[in-house]
Amino acid sequence: MKMVIIGGSGLIGSKVAETLKLKGHEVIAASRRNGIDAVTGEGIAEALKNADVLVDVSNSPSFEDQAVLEFFQKSTTNLVKAGKEAGIHHFVALSVVGTDRLPGNGYFRAKLAQETIIRNSGIPYTIVRATQFLEFLDAIAYTATTGDEVRVSTGFLQPIAASDVAGFVAEAALAKPLTGILEIAGPERFPMNEVVKDYLALKGDSRTVVGDPEAEYFGSKLQPGSLVSDENPKLGATTLKKWLAEKAA
Ligand SMILES: NC(=O)c1ccc[n+]([C@@H]2O[C@H](COP(=O)([O-])OP(=O)(O)OC[C@H]3O[C@@H](n4cnc5c(N)ncnc54)[C@H](OP(=O)(O)O)[C@@H]3O)[C@@H](O)[C@H]2O)c1
Repeated sequence: MKMVIIGGSGLIGSKVAETLKLKGHEVIAASRRNGIDAVTGEGIAEALKNADVLVDVSNSPSFEDQAVLEFFQKSTTNLVKAGKEAGIHHFVALSVVGTDRLPGNGYFRAKLAQETIIRNSGIPYTIVRATQFLEFLDAIAYTATTGDEVRVSTGFLQPIAASDVAGFVAEAALAKPLTGILEIAGPERFPMNEVVKDYLALKGDSRTVVGDPEAEYFGSKLQPGSLVSDENPKLGATTLKKWLAEKAA
């Protein structure tokens, strides 16, 4: 099959592209660095010629509320239009568990807008909603740091390794469209303050982690279950310890 991966040079996209190539598929790993821009539309029609599956794992260069909303609205509108014109059979997109649970969060609003455009497109689709990546723990700790203190929510996190995410996305691209949502998550669930504390300790980072139910997560207060899935998600195999050991090796 011919597969076009939008965001094919990114953390997830590069792994999805590699997996699908190894399985013998024709893969275009598309992004601005090879002249394909989902926001302006440049190069999309050419890349999608005779494609069977479009996988969107792109991400906005800016996480500012309006910028990220415009990114996902414009890019998804362009991809849906070009996908229809090219006659693709399956639109696969990577989203976030809980997109509909945090309306106060600009990034989640933008992901929900992306999902809605895909759902209304008429193209058979699979939306893969993932929990936070283990690779995202640094960003969570960074944005919650003041001086030497990391103040994070006590809401649950069930982080998943990027390699596991990519495996599930590749699997979804090769399967029949669900025309629905598939949720995926990591194998362990912890209060955010505990996983951030364990992660920093295992890395030898001496910052003090404080759990605070009122602490905001990228601008939103969390309920205990805001970021985790109770929809019988598929679970990745990589634990925090295994992931850190692999990184250190
Ligand atoms: N981080 C998390 O914990 C988490 C959790 C659940 C879901 N997700 C979702 O996972 C997806 C992938 O994230 P990631 O971490 O793999 O992203 P990433 O590493 O930042 O990669 C983003 C990709 O998008 C491309 N891109 C940016 N602007 C583009 C444009 N205008 N047209 C085409 N390509 C463009 C980039 O390449 P160029 O710069 O070359 O264009 C790059 O290949 C995102 O949609 C995110 O919402 C993330």
